[in-house]
Order: sequence, then C-alpha cells, then structure tokens
Amino acid sequence: MIHLGVNIDHVATLRNARGGIEPSPLFAAECAVLGGADSITVHLREDRRHILDNDVTLLKEGLSVPLNLEMSVSEDIVEFGLALEPYQVTLVPERREEQTTESGLDVIRNLKEITAISEKFRAKSVRVSLFVDPDLTQLQAVLKTSSRCVELHTGAYSNAKSHAEKEKELKRLVDAALWCNNHGVRLHAGHGLNYHNTFDILQLPGIRELNIGHSIISRSVFVGLKKAVSDMRALMNQASTHEVIEKARALQQDNK
Ligand code: PXP
Repeated sequence: MIHLGVNIDHVATLRNARGGIEPSPLFAAECAVLGGADSITVHLREDRRHILDNDVTLLKEGLSVPLNLEMSVSEDIVEFGLALEPYQVTLVPERREEQTTESGLDVIRNLKEITAISEKFRAKSVRVSLFVDPDLTQLQAVLKTSSRCVELHTGAYSNAKSHAEKEKELKRLVDAALWCNNHGVRLHAGHGLNYHNTFDILQLPGIRELNIGHSIISRSVFVGLKKAVSDMRALMNQASTHEVIEKARALQQDNK
C-alpha cells in the first residue's frame, strides 16, 4: 500500500493568524490519522511562518504514526532535527521570499553539505529523504550521499497548463521513478497533488509514499479533516486496485 503523509502546516498558518492556540496542529494530526494518514509531515521553516518548534516537539511526543520533518540544511534547524530524532527527515531547499518550496535540492552543488547532514541523521537511524526535481543528473548525485530515498517534486507536473506539458512532466517523473527502481532508491513524491491529479502519480513505478498538504487542508474547511484525508485515502486505494487489475490483465495477455 502506498503511504499517505499528510502535511498539516496550514493548520498552523490559520492558528498563527490570530496568535492563539486554535486550531491545534496536534489535534489536526490526530484527525488526519483517524482519516487514514500513515504519517504526518511538517515543515519547520527558517522564518517559522507556520509550524513552530513547540508544535514539532508535541507532535513527536504525541503522534501514533511516524513524523516526517521537512527542513532546510541550515545549521540551527539541522541541530533541532538531530535532537528531535523524528522517524524521517526530508531535506528541502528554502528561500525566505518563496510562497512554498519551489524547486528541488541542488544535490550536485551542495553535495558536501547534504552528504554530511545525511550521515548525521543516518547515524541516529533517521531516514533521510531528499526532495529533488525529476532530473537524472540530480538523481545520480543522490547516490554519492548516504541517502537512498528521494521525494520527487511533482510541482511542475501539478502546475502544467496544457495536456502536452502535463504529459511531458509525467514522462520526466516516470523516467526518474524507473531510475530510482533500478538504483535501489526508495521513491516518494509530493507537491501540488490534489484530488484530480494524484491518480497518475500513483501509477509511478515503485512509488511508496505521497506527501500532500494544501489540497487536503483546503478540502477540510468544507468536509472536516478526517473526511478530507479519508477521501484521499480512498482515491489512493482505488489506484492500487486499478494497478492490481492492470497487472492481472497483463498476465492474462501473456498467457494467451
Ligand atoms: N513535499 C514537500 C517536500 C513540500 O515542501 C511540500 C510543501 O510543503 C509538500 C510535499 C506538500 O505540498 P502541497 O502542500 O502542495 O501538497
């Protein structure tokens, strides 16, 4: 089964709008788990615009599912992550002026730094996932680090304006996924995924985990968080069933 990591950053965005205590990210995480989330993802940004240090600590202590901490490679955030020891960290690039994480890591240019940080987390048995664009040259560089897990940035696919552009971006993702399968690299994907565009991403060969935030939290405003998560979970289960049926069909063809 493909894991669903639910990103609850925007629950904290809403909480911070009034500076009080509600809505609580921990309560949101519990609702997401009841709806079928396999893990909870939060991004502790350098400017602390949504999730705060204390939220992450409470989530680490209170969650019944793994915590995936998205973070930049800045020194104080890395120190925080190392002390926290979440189940997984996802290293992402970060620019203060961006609305959200706009591109993948430049593993080639920052190889030394990323390798050193990955090794520190690996020494604590924390899984290190590297958020990268579906670019084979970046993926080659991942093999030079101790991480064997990537999250493919699906933003370009999600934002594609035309059918042709979408097909082109999907092909890049498929090629990157095949490359990961051939090189023993665990495959995650995320960014901009919603109830309409996730089905194709679930067909990526070897996909193990999706991390989805904005669309689920947006839907939750109308239907509640548990239901918004369970709707996404149902969509993902449907895709697994579809895959099994397709495999059975292919086997039938082979046997003819
Ligand atoms: N994965 C990564 C690495 C991200 O930075 C984000 C955005 O915080 C997401 C997944 C979730 O993206 P979205 O909110 O568009 O679903």
